[in-house]
Amino acid sequence: MATTRRELLRLGAGAAALLAMPGRLPGQEGGLITRAIPNTGHELPIVGIGTARRYDVGPEAADRAPLREVLATFARLGGSVIDTAPSYGAAEQVCGDIVRELGNRDRLFIATKISLRGLSGRDAGIAQMQQSMTRFGTEHIDLMQIHSLNDWQTQLELIREWKEEGRLGSIGITTSFDRQYADFENVMREDGIDAIQVDYAIDNRGAEERILPLAAERRLAVLVNLPFSRGRTFERAGSRALPDWAADYGIESWAQYFLKWVVSHPAVTVAIPGTARLDYLIDNLAAARGAMPDEAARQRMLSYFESL
Ligand SMILES: NC(=O)c1ccc[n+]([C@@H]2O[C@H](COP(=O)([O-])OP(=O)(O)OC[C@H]3O[C@@H](n4cnc5c(N)ncnc54)[C@H](OP(=O)(O)O)[C@@H]3O)[C@@H](O)[C@H]2O)c1
Repeated sequence: MATTRRELLRLGAGAAALLAMPGRLPGQEGGLITRAIPNTGHELPIVGIGTARRYDVGPEAADRAPLREVLATFARLGGSVIDTAPSYGAAEQVCGDIVRELGNRDRLFIATKISLRGLSGRDAGIAQMQQSMTRFGTEHIDLMQIHSLNDWQTQLELIREWKEEGRLGSIGITTSFDRQYADFENVMREDGIDAIQVDYAIDNRGAEERILPLAAERRLAVLVNLPFSRGRTFERAGSRALPDWAADYGIESWAQYFLKWVVSHPAVTVAIPGTARLDYLIDNLAAARGAMPDEAARQRMLSYFESL
């Protein structure tokens, strides 16, 4: 790891604490807890980065420099999963440009999507996947997802083929809408899918009724989008202090409280919080280290949050 002591100290106490660690712990990479994609065995740190909105910036260096610093530091601290999509404005291009400049594509797990809104057909899916590969300067995308099930029959057949040809590592489907859950469950039963991406947060628990148990049954990796409910969880917590017992799980911020609650669900593989600031990055990655709440502790965390 190329991170210097001075840099870690500048990043804050959480990162500096990494220096004090006696070495890698079992099941941890770069100090981050990992979980495997069941079908492939590929180990992923349990906290990644989502890039919707905040990475949709222009070419100006002033806009891109902070994002570049976040992505560079993310990889240096052992982070891996970056989730993006062609439909996030310029975000996929911006991430691709930064990763090519940094030359760290091989340290990252790139998750992107076929995002067809108002479009359909095999050619449209191929064009988007080729564009994604060009943007990242790669011939291999680690996870290709069908965004919000759009045109899923045609696109699933296509990404199965591309996976067989070795151009995709894993394939999956995404949603963030309760109204899609019934259809989503049906597609989860299709052959060949490796991963799902679904909305799940301490104040948005619909996925735990059927989607997460089905994912466990089908041995699918689960990426969690909207783990902060687009920031609503922070609004509810306001400026209140954390409960004292949160320290038992190494929780030092509300972000860590919400993320540890999400990633400690046994079916969850990775949470992908929207992260475009260095202080948020350090904060969010800290949720991938240390003690994890068990089921009783998760219940306590939920009850406490709901009492706020
Ligand atoms: N169907 C789909 O495939 C789908 C749908 C939705 C989302 N997604 C994916 O999921 C990702 C996450 O969703 P999201 O970004 O919309 O929502 P989110 O992760 O639930 O919340 C992001 C919000 O949390 C704030 N935040 C992040 N880290 C923080 C920290 N440590 N402390 C305080 N505030 C913090 C951000 O603040 P700032 O605003 O100040 O940066 C932002 O407002 C997306 O980026 C995208 O990759 C996929």
